[in-house]
Formats: sequence, C-alpha cells, structure tokens
Amino acid sequence: MAARILDGKQTALKIREEIAAEVRQFVDAGGPTPCLAAVLVGDDPASQVYVRNKQRACEKAGIEGRLDRLPADVSQSELLDVVRRLNEDDGVHGILVQLPLPRGLDERLVLDMVDARKDVDAFNPCNVGLLMQGRPRFLPCTPAGIVQLLHRYEIPTAGKHVVVVGRSDIVGKPMAMLLAARDGSCGPSAANATVTLAHSRTADLAEVVRSGDIVIAAVGRPEMIRGEWLKPGAVVVDVGINRVEDRLVGDVHFDEAMEVASAVTPVPGGVGPLTIAMLLGNTLAAARAIHQSRNSG
Ligand code: GUN
Repeated sequence: MAARILDGKQTALKIREEIAAEVRQFVDAGGPTPCLAAVLVGDDPASQVYVRNKQRACEKAGIEGRLDRLPADVSQSELLDVVRRLNEDDGVHGILVQLPLPRGLDERLVLDMVDARKDVDAFNPCNVGLLMQGRPRFLPCTPAGIVQLLHRYEIPTAGKHVVVVGRSDIVGKPMAMLLAARDGSCGPSAANATVTLAHSRTADLAEVVRSGDIVIAAVGRPEMIRGEWLKPGAVVVDVGINRVEDRLVGDVHFDEAMEVASAVTPVPGGVGPLTIAMLLGNTLAAARAIHQSRNSG
C-alpha cells in the first residue's frame, strides 16, 4: 500500500498564515514591525534562491526583510563589522547569515558574533546550550519545522524510536535534542522519543534505520536510504536536497520508501518550506522579546 504524503508545502502555508495573523496583532497592539536582516555573501545560486524565498515569505507575513549582499572576497573583519552593525540596529530583530560562507571565511567566528537575542537560526552557542538544557530561546528552524509537521499530521513521538541519520549542527544534533526533550519544553509533542543519532560511519546503518519507528534523514547523500532499510509502516522525514543531474532528490529513495513506509515527506515540498515558516515565527518571537525588554527596562 502506498504511504501517505506529508505535505510540507501546505503545512508551511498554514503556519505562515497563522504567523501573519500574530504579526498583525502584535503591530496593532503597538509593537514594532518585526524585521529580519539576511546577510548573503558571494553568489552561490542555491543560497540566492533560499534568501529570495525567505525575503518573499517575510513580506507576505508582514515582516520587514532586509538584505546585505557582500562579495565572495569580503574580508573576515568587514563581514564581522556588518554583523556588529546589525546587532546594534534597534530596527533589526532577527539576523540570518546564509550558509555556507565562501571559502576563507570562518563560519564559527561569524555565527558566534550574532547577538543571541537576534539569532533566529539558533546557531549561536549560547542558544545551542539553552536548547540542550530544555529551555530554548529559539527553536532551530528545520528541526522545529519537522516537529510541527509530525504534530499537525498527528504522528506521536512519545515512546517511539526515532533514528536520525546525520549529525550536523544545523539538523541532526538539534533534532535529536528536540525529540528527546521532556513534554512541551521544545515545542508541541516534541517529547519523550527514544533517539538514536546515526550517521554515515554508523556500523550496520541499514539495520539501525530498520529499528526506527520514525526515520529522519539528514545525511546529504542522494537516495542513500533504501526501501529495504525501513521498518514496514515507518514514518520517513527526508531533509536531504541533492541535485542529481537535473533532478532534486532526497536522502531517501522516495519510490521505494512509498512502498514500505506509512508516511513520507516529498523532496521538494517536504521539509524545506517548513524551515522558512519557522524562521518567520522566530523573527516574531525575537521582536516580541526585544520589545518587551525595552518596555520593561
Ligand atoms: N543554509 C542551509 N540551511 C540554512 C539555514 O537554516 N540557515 C542559514 N542561515 N543558512 C542555511
């Protein structure tokens, strides 16, 4: 029997409408228009598309989108100056430095510089630490989007064995944290799962994946996870976006997964749109927190 498709695009549109309504309420009540400042360095085509999509989504939600474009040969200190300026700009509530940065720039140094209160990507080590302790300031966008998707399709995580494949700082590691968190501390129903954080060097990876009630693939290898690796009835969330010739494919072999799993996210149209929706939510949360601290201070 074919699996159910988990439609990230539709779910993200719904979430974006909800955020737009919350933005209107916040501004009507005297709050500032939330503002997200993106920094794009170089001319990587995929990054340009991502940033453009984020800007458009901001506009539609009533959030101001700003963009600083810098050449690929910008110096480390010039880039840090741009981040410093955005940190100090009272009109900016969220800062996003699009990754990857061109070779020669120190990503860590730049992300460490982003003011933790404006760090809507949740990449700053202070925010990573808060997440680890179950008291997040911002939820990391892609993992939080996945939690929302599972929640809205009424797929419970409590007591389930979730196998996360991929140990990146952006997806794999924070995903594991969110799913293992106690009730409610990291978003709706993002709780009480038993999590295995697997990766490309995991021994018997196919066997480990087969033990997952839910499999989250974020390893960056086209169609690596095959249908026969899946437990029948598993839920499959595919974070991968890999270009193979002129096609986009995920980390999971979609057609094979559809035959074995009970639910699968497509690529594209699965996790990607949710990441942007969560970014908007974080920008509103940042504007709220900054506004509140100014008014109470
Ligand atoms: N590049 C790929 N994904 C992301 C993301 O979530 N945030 C940023 N800033 N850059 C990315």
